Amino acid sequence: MLTLSQISKSYSKDQNVLMPTDLNVKKGEFVSIIGPSGCGKSTLLDIIAGINKPTKGSVKYNGEDITNKTGLVGYMPQSDVLFPWRTVLDNVILPLEIQGTGRDEALTQARGLFPKFGLAGFEKHYPFMLSGGMRQRANFLRAYLNNKELLLLDEPFGKLDAMTRLELQKWFIQICEETDQTVIFITHDMDEAIFLSDRIFILSPRPGCLIEEVNVEFTRPRKENLITSSEFALLKRRLLDVLHLKQS
Ligand SMILES: Nc1ncnc2c1ncn2[C@@H]1O[C@H](COP(=O)(O)OP(=O)(O)O)[C@@H](O)[C@H]1O
Ligand SMILES: [Mg+2]
Repeated sequence: MLTLSQISKSYSKDQNVLMPTDLNVKKGEFVSIIGPSGCGKSTLLDIIAGINKPTKGSVKYNGEDITNKTGLVGYMPQSDVLFPWRTVLDNVILPLEIQGTGRDEALTQARGLFPKFGLAGFEKHYPFMLSGGMRQRANFLRAYLNNKELLLLDEPFGKLDAMTRLELQKWFIQICEETDQTVIFITHDMDEAIFLSDRIFILSPRPGCLIEEVNVEFTRPRKENLITSSEFALLKRRLLDVLHLKQS
């Protein structure tokens, strides 16, 4: 579905951010990208979303060259993208409005999801009235409502407390399993990457390059008790070894 060929990025001759990277994602797959801070993860997603130009390389989506093209995938960037002058409800329906969905239809779709995202009762609030975690969930809802085949999520649960995080992870994994949603997910959290993913890509410290690709073969649907199983711990140990080995 998505193929990155030899994507690289540098801002100047002596400052490479991403080394030539190949990466592919199949339809319905959930892949995670993990790697140390500053290794180019967000840059990579920006390139896939078409909002940052690669220095070299191409992005193909369903067979078509989409390098530098925007609007084709759902994207939740790492930074807060809510407009301060719009209510939360008006913020999250923005991509639907841009796509041409009627306002009433967009509002109905969005309202139905507020409870799931833990935002019920905050529809008419403005972003400044929400906590960091709530704003993050609103950003996530906005990307999710976009309803695109491919969803890019940049640390969507990063600001959440552990309980809320686990609840959202469980809900999201269920949605992805039911709808065959294709996802590229960035996280710092190894447990989160293993619990959610079919495959994990590990990037080296900056300049980022792909150092390992790991299949996560636990059967689906996945349940919370997977996280405390010995198989889970073994895989986590292996991934941590890869990360530490390449950093030392
Ligand atoms: N516009 C820019 N000009 C120069 N360097 C940049 C620019 N944007 C990002 N960078 C650098 O690119 C590197 C990778 O950033 P980023 O993709 O955000 O990393 P990550 O998401 O893995 O933490 C960082 O070292 C950052 O300083
Ligand atoms: Mg980042």
